[in-house]
Amino acid sequence: MSHNLLNLTGSTEQDILELIELANSFKSGDLNEYRHENLFPDKKVASFFSEPSTRTKLSFEIAACNLGAKFLDFNIENSSIQKGETLEDTIEAMMLMGVDLCILRHPESVIHDLAKKFSSMQFINAGEGSVAHPSQALIDLMTIRESKEAFKDLKITIVGDLDHSRVVSSFLEAIQIVGFKSITFCGHPDLCKSYLDNPIGNFEPELETALQDADVIMALRIQNERLSEKLSISASDYVERYQININSLQVTSPEMILFHPGPVNFGIELHKEVAELENCKVKNQIFNGVGMRMAILTKLFSQA
Ligand code: CP
Repeated sequence: MSHNLLNLTGSTEQDILELIELANSFKSGDLNEYRHENLFPDKKVASFFSEPSTRTKLSFEIAACNLGAKFLDFNIENSSIQKGETLEDTIEAMMLMGVDLCILRHPESVIHDLAKKFSSMQFINAGEGSVAHPSQALIDLMTIRESKEAFKDLKITIVGDLDHSRVVSSFLEAIQIVGFKSITFCGHPDLCKSYLDNPIGNFEPELETALQDADVIMALRIQNERLSEKLSISASDYVERYQININSLQVTSPEMILFHPGPVNFGIELHKEVAELENCKVKNQIFNGVGMRMAILTKLFSQA
């Protein structure tokens, strides 16, 4: 791993498998919690989230605490950004005060220039518009690995608002590194324009056909915050055609596993009834978020 985690470009299969192994090694004996290891008591980690987050921000905070690092929860609403200070000057102030690593979520692709300019501080990309969310992709591979032996044999179906999803961008980057058998994209064409004719996989408009052969299904929410115009399909028609529920899952194999990066809008892309199925790994993804983020922080601090 390099000095920062901005995307997965340049990562190898071995890098990813090592991160998964390290993340799992932090699980305690009964595998239901993570060990506390005082590995980095001198490190200061600050969050900078310009967009809302529950999983990413809290799991990085818990991961940093588990590793003995200090976590500084920077609150933009109470900061001098409200008095006109720029993003760049704010990040520089963080660096000058001794922050070692900044976890940044922003709707624009600002992180690359910041990481170049303030190179004595490390950066983790915690969500860059619809472009990248690399730690989520690593969590998803870690969670797949718990149920499936070999990535290269997997038939993967991704359903929902693909165009606005940073999760799917990073997932596709990751899965091309570790290998896969096939990828099927499914969703309303207004939300899948970049995937109607995409070299990585095939677009399938019918949900049932898209689900029937899948080993791994990833559902995505409609990213209303990034839609520039109103959808040409009503909410009830969307649910009718694209919701994953007990009925639509009847065509799938018993070994299929179902993912969603969260937050889930239950009742839209997933029916609540699927959440408790053995095949549904959404809760595992959330739990694995802490371990993978412990692994990412450990690797990055080892590069510092
Ligand atoms: N998956 C994900 O990024 O969730 P949050 O927006 O809650 O961090």
